[in-house]
Amino acid sequence: MVKAHTIAVLPGDGIGPEVIAEAERVLRTVAEGSGLRLTLERYPIGAAGVAAAGDPLPEATRAAVTRADAVLLGAVGDPALDGAPRHLKPETGLLALRALLGVFANLRPVSVHPVLAGRSPLKADRLQGVDVLIVRELTGGLYYGEPRGRAASRAVNTLTYSTVEVERVARIAFAAARRRRGLVTSVDKANVLEVSQLWRDTVTHVAREYPDVRLEHLYVDTAAMRLVAEPAAFDVILTENMFGDILSDEAAVLAGSLGLLPSASLGAGPGLFEPIHGSAPDIAGRGIANPIGAIASVAMLLRHGLGRAAEADAVDAAIERVLAAGARTRDIAEPGAATLGTGAMGQRIAEQVGNEGRTTNAGPAMPPPALRIPH
Ligand code: IPM
Ligand code: MN
Repeated sequence: MVKAHTIAVLPGDGIGPEVIAEAERVLRTVAEGSGLRLTLERYPIGAAGVAAAGDPLPEATRAAVTRADAVLLGAVGDPALDGAPRHLKPETGLLALRALLGVFANLRPVSVHPVLAGRSPLKADRLQGVDVLIVRELTGGLYYGEPRGRAASRAVNTLTYSTVEVERVARIAFAAARRRRGLVTSVDKANVLEVSQLWRDTVTHVAREYPDVRLEHLYVDTAAMRLVAEPAAFDVILTENMFGDILSDEAAVLAGSLGLLPSASLGAGPGLFEPIHGSAPDIAGRGIANPIGAIASVAMLLRHGLGRAAEADAVDAAIERVLAAGARTRDIAEPGAATLGTGAMGQRIAEQVGNEGRTTNAGPAMPPPALRIPH
């Protein structure tokens, strides 16, 4: 009897529910084609959590994510709550979820689909061969440091990291680089910040465990510049929480649209899988959002969350084929070209996965060795 996996699905706010509906459609198709048994259970988060239970991470959601095998998230954020106290902000729910799951390593792969190179504002020659994995520390740094707070004319946030926090995320980056092109670029601000000096020393120390991986260090300002000037020079970028937030949006420009990009957040327990785009309130409810970031997050969920590499490959391949065949949502279309809505794009990808599923022998579940969290 095949073990059933429970996926906690948190659609969230804005375009979250629209793109998550397509991600679920693809997951169900994968399950049908491969014999994988999945139970998808929906719970509120963000503004939806505040509306349902007065809490951006309601108790029922907390309980569900900790017993799930993996968590699939849409997006959080609602301009109506911009002025709300911190404990009622949608973003607070997301940060609490990351902390609850202990997902300290956030993987954000960015590559350029050759057929979409024209959608990036960068020159095509810069984009050739771009394939970057950003490994962002996700449960420490300025986002979580205490003390924090705001008074009338002064506010404080605290940047703090321990060697243990740096070591564990560094190992994820080195292990990933080992399976890629063998280069880790660690990004810090060690010319100014003591925390960055500790970061740099600790990463240098961890690098000795990976003699086959090359390590370089860059200051964050230089890294930001090089990311657009010479993006193909990067393999794995390892950085702290806030720098990783900023650099990953910058890197998204390379791909042509934020709507394409997935992420996986890993720790010792269930992983969290989400597109890197936000709730996009300006286009929410119109059925025009790009579901590819969410669907590619399903591929990461299958690969890193459930250890199903063959099914993950099938989803990635389906996205590639649909793009190669010319299917475009509004964000990635040539000006004036025909576009597909969220549902039609999701349906095309699901159909491709369906075709693939019948010709591929999925085989036994494969563990995701390089990215297993060592502990
Ligand atoms: C991201 C988002 C979040 C972050 C926000 C919504 C709190 O921008 O996942 O990159 O800053 O981490
Ligand atoms: Mn961000």
